[in-house]
Amino acid sequence: MLFRNEIFEQDLESIKDILSSTGFFEGAPDEIDAALKSARQALKDGNTIENHAFLFLEQDAETIGYTCFSRIPCTLSTYEIHWLAVHNNQRGRGIGKLLLNEVIKIVRQAGASKLILKTAGRDLYIPTQKFYLSCGFKEEARLKNYYSKGDDCLIYSMDF
Ligand SMILES: CC(C)(COP(=O)(O)OP(=O)(O)OC[C@H]1O[C@@H](n2cnc3c(N)ncnc32)[C@H](O)[C@@H]1OP(=O)(O)O)[C@@H](O)C(=O)NCCC(=O)NCCS
Repeated sequence: MLFRNEIFEQDLESIKDILSSTGFFEGAPDEIDAALKSARQALKDGNTIENHAFLFLEQDAETIGYTCFSRIPCTLSTYEIHWLAVHNNQRGRGIGKLLLNEVIKIVRQAGASKLILKTAGRDLYIPTQKFYLSCGFKEEARLKNYYSKGDDCLIYSMDF
């Protein structure tokens, strides 16, 4: 398996493919659109941690997972993971954890004091919540009814 921290035009298709495969974004096409918008921005303005840094994981020339993260503007050293997804046929094999650990390594090298991410509180996301907890994140805040009525936004964090 190989990490790749460059982004190419064909990654737009890989991102769409990976996100669609999860089944998590059916009925929420604007989420996939938002992910593609960030990717186009990285293609145009550079794949940097100050903008949107994309990191892909490849196996046998296939892109099997990716993440996107950046420093949060107006903070000194707080970083956010915007996206993390593993192709459905590769889930549960440690790929998500590999990607997450690589992000942690990169942001720590960049001087991060804190890493956060947002995820949904609804039942579909219970495995995702367990994933982040098992990778060392803690639930630090909860915004009630953020995504929709009854669907809270959970903010997970890790302090360095
Ligand atoms: C969440 C996601 C990125 C995890 O990636 P993954 O490759 O499947 O997870 P891993 O195999 O690396 O699992 C790492 C740890 O999380 C735990 N975990 C993963 N999936 C889990 C599940 N369904 N239920 C409980 N725990 C789970 C594992 O037990 C493992 O712990 P261990 O290392 O102690 O054994 C992936 O499942 C995914 O893309 N989900 C859909 C999209 C999504 O929710 N993205 C995040 C949006 S905020």
